[in-house]
Amino acid sequence: MMNISKIGIFKRMFFMLILVVMNSCSSTKTSNEKVATNEELYRPNFHFSPKSGWMNDPNGMFFYKGLYHLCFQYYPDATVWGPMHWGHATSKDMITWKEEKIALYPDEMGYIFSGSSVVDVNNTSGFGSLKNPPIVAMFTYHDAVKAKAGATDFQSQAIAYSLDEGMTWTKYKNNPVIKNPNIKDFRDPKMTWDAIHNQWIMVLAADVETKIYRSSNLIDWELASGFGKNLGAHGAPWECPDFFPIKVEGSTEMKWVLLQSINPGGPNGGSATQYFVGDFDGKTFTLNDSFTQDLNQFGALWVDYGKDNYAGVTWSNIPDSDSRKLFIGWMSNWQYADKVPTEKWRSAMTIPRELKLTNTEGHYRIVSQPVKELEKYISKTIKKDLLAIDKTTVIVDKSTVDMSRLDIRFTINGLKEDKYDFILSNKENNAIHFGINKKEKYFYIDRKNVSQTIFSDEFAKKISTAPITTDFNSIEVRVVIDKTSIEVFYDNGKTVMTEIYFSDKPMDSFSIAKANSDFELKNVLINQLNSK
Ligand code: FRU
Repeated sequence: MMNISKIGIFKRMFFMLILVVMNSCSSTKTSNEKVATNEELYRPNFHFSPKSGWMNDPNGMFFYKGLYHLCFQYYPDATVWGPMHWGHATSKDMITWKEEKIALYPDEMGYIFSGSSVVDVNNTSGFGSLKNPPIVAMFTYHDAVKAKAGATDFQSQAIAYSLDEGMTWTKYKNNPVIKNPNIKDFRDPKMTWDAIHNQWIMVLAADVETKIYRSSNLIDWELASGFGKNLGAHGAPWECPDFFPIKVEGSTEMKWVLLQSINPGGPNGGSATQYFVGDFDGKTFTLNDSFTQDLNQFGALWVDYGKDNYAGVTWSNIPDSDSRKLFIGWMSNWQYADKVPTEKWRSAMTIPRELKLTNTEGHYRIVSQPVKELEKYISKTIKKDLLAIDKTTVIVDKSTVDMSRLDIRFTINGLKEDKYDFILSNKENNAIHFGINKKEKYFYIDRKNVSQTIFSDEFAKKISTAPITTDFNSIEVRVVIDKTSIEVFYDNGKTVMTEIYFSDKPMDSFSIAKANSDFELKNVLINQLNSK
């Protein structure tokens, strides 16, 4: 470890020198726009990305005193995965982020793998006081030396706490708090305060199941049950679970949702996050019957069917007065994350999303939408109440808006066409297609025709699809575009697809292809998003 960190220091110094030289050469940044177009071709405008280095999973997310905290799997010394740290960023609105000092560094017990943080309001852990409640983080120690030597017990769970609102952290002296029971993949603890049963709970990915633990003090944990061995998508280790109660929209019914990432094994290859809906009695999670039927029909249901939303989890300690379930995911895929053509940094997070649970004729579905805070960034809106499509029609182009930062919404009534094909493109023949194949009952994103795809065979091998799992006659679609990413919220967010793309030249037009007969797009809203 010593050697690694020494090399790290040299690398970092060299890197900083380069940054200083580069900065002194560039002109003064007057606007966000200039940063976006001139400096770093692929850096998103309003999605979180680290200034430099490698990032994967979101970790340790909590809200406290007006600030959203986002930690993340981080390797500061290179743009590929390495000895994991927890990077740290804070935000007042989950859109504009300030990168803070690294929260947790690897040490002699191992790398700091994924985990979660909670605000211990009643000081159950005793690390702080009622007046100054501790923030408690739990993470996985990954002992790389042991792993290399062929052991199976190299992952264990440990805690750390902060007494200054999450800015600095102290590792607990008696770590680990959960030793490895001889399970190779044993990681990614996600803690939640279970107000219904008056206990802390924690879910952990353990090989091919989710283990549920409970505790009264965040230090001593009791294994309560296991879930999912033969349910949903399998075939690779489960990773990064999240488990929480959520009210069913428009009712007083309460259900529990388990998010469970898997890699590989996603619906379009590589990494993805599935979900389960059921009931929890304080110890055991039991699937809802209708959800079991849905699983039988579809194999698994996914938070996002696109290739680039992984390891997503929710923020803790959202005040009751707000009570939203706020989610963020890693906007990449282990198939190619370390090959994407960015230079100083690798990976961004998805747009933060509010998750809701709906029940339509007995079928539970997670519904996602970008957080409402994004609306504050709308600087210009073009509204078309009715857009008649009688030929391939440009909905909007760069003469009216900046195509690299958009939030587009529209409705299609009476879906009679076999296919609705939307195209984000430019004159250099770069094009992203997405839409609805009504005839074959799927949604899709196709990024095959964007210039930068050759860095990985897996990146654009085939189009990504999502089955249409619910009926609709009219559909609302929302699309968030941020220079190198597209997030499509179909059917009010019941089916989501997120994908990244790398085009040498900016996109300059958003259009829809004409199908068999004429049709109309209703309530088209094209919002341009700028910094506040
Ligand atoms: C998921 C994951 C986690 C692990 C972390 C390591 O992307 O593999 O299971 O904790 O990344 O960086």
